[in-house]
Amino acid sequence: MGNLTREIIESTGQFNLSVLTENVPFETIRHFGMQSGRDVDKFQAFSATKRSHNGLLYVTDSTNAMFSCKVLEKVNLGSHMMFIGEVTESKVLGKDASCTYAHYHKAIKPKF
Ligand SMILES: Cc1cc2nc3c(=O)[nH]c(=O)nc-3n(C[C@H](O)[C@H](O)[C@H](O)COP(=O)(O)O)c2cc1C
Repeated sequence: MGNLTREIIESTGQFNLSVLTENVPFETIRHFGMQSGRDVDKFQAFSATKRSHNGLLYVTDSTNAMFSCKVLEKVNLGSHMMFIGEVTESKVLGKDASCTYAHYHKAIKPKF
């Protein structure tokens, strides 16, 4: 079954993007990235959020920017669905460096 996030973006035509910083705790990645909204209300159990003009929430802890977007196009890449959005609102939230996927693997993901 596909991600709930993808279904919600497809049905509402909008999304918020929160840019994580390098100091993001693994728990935040686990909370949003390793469980589904089908099983738990992720925003009910996470208080570090604010609401943007489009009515959606964005994350305010360990983030340096947010974008609100309206979907213009979706491109099926096979393994991923890419949404191309028009930015309707954006904010700088901090100055810490953005967390890349490489940084996540090197410094955040637990090594068992
Ligand atoms: C570091 C990291 C990166 C991820 N990248 C993607 C991604 O690019 N596309 C995707 O569909 N899922 C990705 N996932 C997995 C989803 O976050 C995961 O399936 C999540 O539980 C989906 O939740 P939802 O059903 O509430 O949308 C990633 C997870 C992690 C931890």
